[in-house]
Amino acid sequence: MQVFYDRQSFSEYINALKEQNKKIGFAPTMGALHAGHISLYNAARKENDIVISSIFVNPTQFNNPEDLEKYPRTIEDDIQKLESSNLVDAVYIPKVEDIYPNGMERKHYDFGGIENEMEGAARPGHFDGVGTVVEELFLQVKPDNAYFGEKDFQQLKIIEKLVDVTDLDIKIHGVKIHREESGLAMSSRNMRLSEKEKEASSVIYKTLKKVDEWFRVISIPEIKKRVDEVFHRDDMELEYFLIADENTLKEVDFFSTDHSYRAFIVVNVGKVRLIDNMHLN
Ligand code: PAF
Repeated sequence: MQVFYDRQSFSEYINALKEQNKKIGFAPTMGALHAGHISLYNAARKENDIVISSIFVNPTQFNNPEDLEKYPRTIEDDIQKLESSNLVDAVYIPKVEDIYPNGMERKHYDFGGIENEMEGAARPGHFDGVGTVVEELFLQVKPDNAYFGEKDFQQLKIIEKLVDVTDLDIKIHGVKIHREESGLAMSSRNMRLSEKEKEASSVIYKTLKKVDEWFRVISIPEIKKRVDEVFHRDDMELEYFLIADENTLKEVDFFSTDHSYRAFIVVNVGKVRLIDNMHLN
């Protein structure tokens, strides 16, 4: 596996691949890699000649400076994990100035309104920051296919819109949520949980499974009441739970027959903000 620490050598590598008409699969990350990331490269390996990873903790998508500061940075370990996965041909680890040569500014995007729902409302500027870094990475990596985890389902939808609004010819693939045995969705933030908190956090997945059982059986207000009750506890705080139309990501308060729905949840366990979601069957 090749490791590139600067834009110049990386773009020479990419241009050579493009000249040879290689099909490139790409999954960007912010590091602190876990099995969920590896599942992205597994998916990419099946349909591309070359699989590329990137590691860059993107400052413009953090609305909370403490969250940025505390974000785990485990670069040596990450390189080791990518290497031993045997799935990745190259990893790009750019410096801030490789991504933001003109200063660390967020672009402003119109994603048709989905950027204002849920995480967009809870984290002002977050999706503009994600759009800015992913657009720049797409321009530098020039992938044919790009892979994003469904854990950040709203992000996945935003990226689908991003390639539309920027006219980039890249196919976006969503990859199913990878879970711990307990059901807890894998996330780089899980590293910041104690063993006890980790164990307790499995209630998030268990609750989503209950919601799936209650889907179309009891009303949404009643489902929300039950979820609220589950989180009447001292060791974690429910930030939001809602059921949204899977396409518009707008919260709904009743089910129509011909729409798909997904439940979304955010829970704060100590200072760690955990997000999860589930398609309702
Ligand atoms: O999902 C992430 O890790 C990040 O939001 C991404 C897509 C790598 C952009 O920084």
